[in-house]
Formats: sequence, C-alpha cells, structure tokens
Amino acid sequence: MPITPTKKIWMDGELVDWADANIHILNPTLHYGWGVFEGVRAYATERGPAVFRLTEHIQRLFRSAHIYLMEPDWSVEQIVEATKETVRVNDVESCYIRPLFYLGYGEMGLNPLPSKTKAAIAVWPWGAYLGDEATQHGVRAAVSSWQRIGNNTIPPTGKATGQYLNSSLAKVTALKAGYDEAIMLTPDGNIAEGSGENIFVVYGRKLITPPLVDGALAGLTRDSVMVIARDEGYEVVEASLNRTDLYLADEAFFTGTAAEMVPLVEVDDRRVGRGVPGPVSRQLLGLFQQALVGKLDRYKEWNEYVHD
Ligand SMILES: Cc1ncc(COP(=O)(O)O)c(C=O)c1O
Repeated sequence: MPITPTKKIWMDGELVDWADANIHILNPTLHYGWGVFEGVRAYATERGPAVFRLTEHIQRLFRSAHIYLMEPDWSVEQIVEATKETVRVNDVESCYIRPLFYLGYGEMGLNPLPSKTKAAIAVWPWGAYLGDEATQHGVRAAVSSWQRIGNNTIPPTGKATGQYLNSSLAKVTALKAGYDEAIMLTPDGNIAEGSGENIFVVYGRKLITPPLVDGALAGLTRDSVMVIARDEGYEVVEASLNRTDLYLADEAFFTGTAAEMVPLVEVDDRRVGRGVPGPVSRQLLGLFQQALVGKLDRYKEWNEYVHD
C-alpha cells in the first residue's frame, strides 16, 4: 500500500523533515534485518487523535529489543511521549504509526553488538490494510506452504524486521495464487496466524485462537477482541487448531493493527460458514470499532489521547 508523506519524522529526539529522514546505504539493519518495530494506529475521536493501546505497543517494542540485545537510549515513557508528539506535529487526525529501533551506521558484519541502537517514529494516513471491501465482505485466504518461524529459528514473540521475510514469502505466494492473505502453520501443522494478523475461529458461542506457543504474536488486537468477546458472554479459549478447524468453523476472522478485524469467508477454496461475514464477527467488529474511537467507556484506558 502506498505511503502518503506527512511533514516530520522523529529520529532520536529530532523532528526531521519527511524527505530528509534517510540513513546510509551501509546501514547494517538494511543488510541483515536486525531491527525491531511496532505497528500502531491513532484514531480520530471527539477529543482529537487517540492512539490505541500505545503504551502496550511500546512495551512490546522494548520486549522485542530485549530479545535482540538492542539497548535504546530511550525509555518506554519517552517513546510513548515522542509518538504522541509526532502525531501532533503532523496534524493528522488518524494515522498508522511506525516506531522502529535499528542499528546505527559504522559497523558491518553479523555481530550487531558493536552497533548503536537508533530510534525513529513515522506516522502517515493509511487505509484498510486488506482493502476497503475487506471489513464488509471478508477475505479469501489459503494455507501457505511456507512454515511459520519458530522459537529456535527466529522467535515469533518479537517483531523483528528480518523475520518478516517469512511473512512476506507467504503473503506473496498467496497473492500470486489469487488469495487475499496467507495462513501459516507450525512444522507440526498447527495454525499459527496470518502473515501479519492473528486468527480466530467461531464455533457457536465459543471463540478459539491459537496459543502463543504455536507461533502467534501476542497481538494487541487479539487481546482486545478476547476481552470484548468475554465481556459479551462468549467463551474464549487459546487452543491449537489445524486447517480443517478453519474449514468447519461457523465463522473465522483475522485481527491486527494494520488489518483491524477482518472476516475470513473462504479458506483453501472452502466456504467458511455461509461464506459471508457471520453475526458473531459482525457484532464483535461493531464493538471493536467503537472501542477504537473511544465510544465505549468500558475500554477507555485503551485510548491514549495525544492532546491533554
Ligand atoms: C505477524 C503478526 N501477527 C499478528 C499481528 C497483530 O498484532 P497486533 O494486533 O498487536 O497489531 C501482527 C501485527 O503486529 C503481526 O505482524
């Protein structure tokens, strides 16, 4: 999806003009993929832009940094504040937010430890990641022949730049075959997640999502939907799923900051349920959308406003 430039990008404490936010071609993160990032969104609300679960996203960024032995000069609180500042100076009401820790220029080779950890935060208006129609009509996905990375290859618990080669291989294969998204399995055949989204199935009043041990990222959208669903009286469990569990579900959907909540209406050319977004998905989507824009008091701690 194309990027719409905004005015300023935060780089280690400086607000740099969009066009000047560049790094050297010999930057080691570019060569070896040793960097960590987050994907966050701010939504337009009656009180101005509110970043959804910002502090928890930044805490996850620091957990990813810890896995990769990166030591930023900044604290969680400072990156949270810098993110709000970047949203404010760019005058955007709603936007996607990309905080990134990367390695500084000067060293090259497979040992990242001598390189300094650098930080950047960019924001730009970004539409629905799986397309404008996706939320309303649902998407078609295929189980990928590319296996999900694992704890002893590249840990899926972190959000490292290089690990997205795995996701992109699956995504590209799915797109070339005419699907909207890929579903990735563990080497044992358990469902892990989509290429950039968590996954849920619905059986009656029960929601099931793969456990983190099956290679799913601890998604904040996943967590939000689990909380909302439990509050609505659904049973929500984390349990291993296989591909036929998807084929036979009443409903299924993806969750993620970029995609938000998207019904899955077909998997491997099999209809899921009736082949259209089902009532449980639609109900939870409606509540989730209200929570995003601060309309549900019950979840107001999820909305972190950029203006006091
Ligand atoms: C691989 C992967 N799974 C799941 C998610 C969804 O996580 P979240 O809801 O926190 O955006 C993401 C997005 O960050 C992701 O990259």
